[in-house]
Amino acid sequence: MPLASRAGGRSRIRQAIVFGRNPHQSDSFDTEADAADALGIDTFQLDLAALLEDDPERACATIPERGHLRLLYRGWMLTGEEYEALDEALGALGHELMTTPAQYAAAHYLPNWYPRLKGYTARSVWTEGTDPSEAWEAAQALGPSPWIVKDHVKSAKERWAEACFVPAGATRADFERICGVLLEERGERFERGFVVRRFLPFKVRGQTPSGPAHLEFRLFFGSGRLLAAESTHDFDVDVPDFSAFERLARRIDARFFTMDVAMLESGQWAVVEVNDGGVSGLPASMDPRDLFAALLGVER
Ligand SMILES: Nc1ncnc2c1ncn2[C@@H]1O[C@H](COP(=O)(O)OP(=O)(O)O)[C@@H](O)[C@H]1O
Ligand SMILES: [Mg+2]
Repeated sequence: MPLASRAGGRSRIRQAIVFGRNPHQSDSFDTEADAADALGIDTFQLDLAALLEDDPERACATIPERGHLRLLYRGWMLTGEEYEALDEALGALGHELMTTPAQYAAAHYLPNWYPRLKGYTARSVWTEGTDPSEAWEAAQALGPSPWIVKDHVKSAKERWAEACFVPAGATRADFERICGVLLEERGERFERGFVVRRFLPFKVRGQTPSGPAHLEFRLFFGSGRLLAAESTHDFDVDVPDFSAFERLARRIDARFFTMDVAMLESGQWAVVEVNDGGVSGLPASMDPRDLFAALLGVER
């Protein structure tokens, strides 16, 4: 099958995928690499450890210095700064990332996407840094708990009761303890500051080992179009037609991102969070061939 290529200026730009895998953790990137192969899309492997050790040139040593590649990054979450360093190192080899660093940050960090989706997602406040008492002060603007707490990107939902959910009636000491466990869980990867969000009455469909499982779907958008949508959890549910969300998705200045939406008890939908498409996990029921074909404009 021919590669999707476009004439860009004098050189032809070839699309490919660059994986950023953590060799010490299991992931689904083998399946994704097979999917890319099946579609005739070239794949490359970054040295993620080198990138995290602040050596982007070494991280990109396996990327060929020929042609002009437009690369989709699929891999572990990077900070905005790491993504920028990756972009520069690839740029020095004559390549470009499909998602620019500015687009990555637009979808990755809640303080960037939240103002665009205000009214469609839980009311939220945030702080910079790791001081839980500042977060408590900021949270007063939300009205009384329940709230959930996370950093600018991720929660510690796996420890729902100790590190994520702030119940009604929680005291300052309770709140600060929860923030402390969150900080510990996120460790060195704690991103920028605390985010505190009003707890929304989502419809509960089941339980995960640690917390509630909501009727939540991950929507993938590419160039303003809905590319795919699947249930976050392994439920046997029909996926509704989410194409009406394209209007909302156009508010996010990114070429490829995900929007997670969940059903409220009222039957309405609310946005749970937005993430960069390159670092969003694929729901188990999603076939990466469908996603890559739609995103990269390749025939299946
Ligand atoms: N405002 C909220 N109200 C109620 N539940 C929430 C709220 N925000 C998130 N959740 C629940 O907590 C889970 C984790 O939150 P999320 O923001 O998606 O964090 P993560 O980035 O770690 O996935 C969500 O999947 C959802 O079930
Ligand atoms: Mg989430």
